[in-house]
Amino acid sequence: MGKATQDLRNEHDSILHVFRILDKVLSTDTKEDAEIFKFGSELVHFLKTFADKCHHGKEEDFLFKELIAKGIPNEGGPIGVMLQDHRIGREYISLMSKSLEAKDLVNFKTNAAKYRDHMRNHIDKENNALFVMADRALDNTRQDQLFEKFEKHEETVIGHGVHEELHAMIHKWEVEFNV
Ligand SMILES: [Fe+2]
Ligand SMILES: [Fe+2]
Repeated sequence: MGKATQDLRNEHDSILHVFRILDKVLSTDTKEDAEIFKFGSELVHFLKTFADKCHHGKEEDFLFKELIAKGIPNEGGPIGVMLQDHRIGREYISLMSKSLEAKDLVNFKTNAAKYRDHMRNHIDKENNALFVMADRALDNTRQDQLFEKFEKHEETVIGHGVHEELHAMIHKWEVEFNV
């Protein structure tokens, strides 16, 4: 397994960990609405910053382009499916955000659950199909070069400070929701 796909798999693990916290939040009935709203806005911040800008950015701007150049099909093929999945995910994040603005907790929970299910499925497809193809198509030198680009991208779109802040936020949720 190359360095670039390993980095993306590690990010998948972080996102899946957050989904386990979300499972707990959605199934709990002992928390005040205000606490769920607060968690909701922090979750949307995490998803926009880490899952979308940082992680999907690495995939769309670098990995997918590299794979298309190697002959893995975009439209009508696996890359097109992944891009469509990312678009659907963004729509759910936007619906979650709008539900929070409208103080509509029921709608927020519905869209958060839909997003989580959609993304679990998407991550499964990448881990078990697309990244396996990527590991076959890209040698270690290409993977190392991609990883360098990922590092620069991460520094540009989120930066070290925000990365630490997101980790601290996840830890706070673990304590708060006992996960
Ligand atoms: Fe993806
Ligand atoms: Fe991914």
